[in-house]
Amino acid sequence: MLSRQIAIIDFGSQYTQLIVRRIRELGYYSRLFQPEELKETGHPAAVILSGGPRSTREEGAPDIDWEWLSSLGVPVLGVCYGMQLLNLKHGGQVSPGTKREYGPAVMTPEGGSALFAGVNASQVWMSHSDTCTALAEETKVIARNADGVPVALQFGPRVFGIQFHPEVSHSHEGSQMLANFIALADDPPRFEMASFKDHLIGEIRKQVGDRKVVCGVSGGVDSTVLAVLLHEAKVPLRAVFVDHGLLRKDEAAEVQANFARLGVPIETVYCADRFLGALAGETDPEKKRKIIGNLFLDVFWDAIGEEVELFAQGTLYPDVIESASSGSIASKIKTHHNRVDRILDLQKEGRVLEPLADLFKDEVRALGAVLGIDHDILWRHPFPGPGLAVRCPGEVTEEKLRIIRECDAIYMERLRETGWYEKVWQAYAALIPVKTVGVKGDERSYEWAISIRAVTSEDAMTADWARLPFEVLASISNEILNNVKGINRVLYDISTKPPASIEWE
Ligand code: XMP
Repeated sequence: MLSRQIAIIDFGSQYTQLIVRRIRELGYYSRLFQPEELKETGHPAAVILSGGPRSTREEGAPDIDWEWLSSLGVPVLGVCYGMQLLNLKHGGQVSPGTKREYGPAVMTPEGGSALFAGVNASQVWMSHSDTCTALAEETKVIARNADGVPVALQFGPRVFGIQFHPEVSHSHEGSQMLANFIALADDPPRFEMASFKDHLIGEIRKQVGDRKVVCGVSGGVDSTVLAVLLHEAKVPLRAVFVDHGLLRKDEAAEVQANFARLGVPIETVYCADRFLGALAGETDPEKKRKIIGNLFLDVFWDAIGEEVELFAQGTLYPDVIESASSGSIASKIKTHHNRVDRILDLQKEGRVLEPLADLFKDEVRALGAVLGIDHDILWRHPFPGPGLAVRCPGEVTEEKLRIIRECDAIYMERLRETGWYEKVWQAYAALIPVKTVGVKGDERSYEWAISIRAVTSEDAMTADWARLPFEVLASISNEILNNVKGINRVLYDISTKPPASIEWE
């Protein structure tokens, strides 16, 4: 983590992470803090108090130590809940609104506040029910909505509150407001990927000391960037690639070639037999996942064959936030696979290294580009840890895997040729283990069906099926039917998530 930051105090709004994003897009370093955490470990150049789902009027509502915060003398901006809190701290009042205000509104700046320099009357996004009713005498109104109701307040030369959310794209001049706010800070910390890379390398060396580091690589974006970064940091590194036999066509060879080109040595563990043996006869999706997950860790740990001094993994910022501990106010919390028991045990002993934990996915890609990693590697579709097993409903067999691999390879090639590969979040072929009747040549055939799926998504939490053109689908279908033995039917999956998931299992 960089030593100074534009600190965002997280009061649990669904938009809080977006504030961090917007500020980094503006080229400044920002990160989230829980209220008490900022006091203990933060070095803020400016502080933003986020929105949140609670009411400042509730017993036990999230709070800040205003005496401490104001003593720092840095600019402070309260957003929504944060503004109401600031109004209370400055002697004003907060009351329940007559109705919840949600959606667009027009705000018009008044009085020439520095927060709105260059900002016109424009659309902003509201999401609140409480409102600031009484204001202290020193508090100035600096913007109003179309009904003349105050929507932005100034409490001091560098202390502001805004009722709306500048971080969402529906607030048309929101980024300008954030830029104006940061411009009020003394020497705000810049965020620029090339120097951030150097900073990360310095931090890695410090944390590693003379210990040996191990990490797993899958060929995916995060673990590749991690391994190349550790290699560039010149720490003693063992990067292990497990080929569990559930990879796509030629994938193991491609991953090895990629790492060879990048100059990072990796050890490959071939253990397809162990995985297929363990999966034999199993048809239950959850049991299949468990078998693969446990065996994967066993194989990985066996391969290392020595005590792990330091285990590195490519955990990203959203993973950290989503698995945040009970200290987090955010209501949506899930346990991430980078936080399984074996890893948590190592973490307790200070033996886990997560250098990417401050970055979003697209920032990891930008870091990868600075590290000289190819565009194609950085823009690969996500691929699930359990591999093709989750695209092979029912029992996993060699024959089914062969069919999936061949269909998938044809499908990906066509998507690349037509420019669709990078327009979709993820695409793949899954086998439907049902035989249907067809005609091949003059013969009756009785073979399986393949489903092809392509989805668009922001974050894989929800997804829509991609509207691939009919001609593209037609050429994929033709080529699969003409070339893949064992398939006589191609189906295009038009299910959204929810209710379907992205993968079949
Ligand atoms: P679902 O199927 O849950 O998938 O809609 C959401 C996203 O997560 C990927 N996925 C996984 N990734 N290990 C992973 O690393 C897994 O076990 C796993 N299962 C699903 C999936 O490919 C999609 O991008």
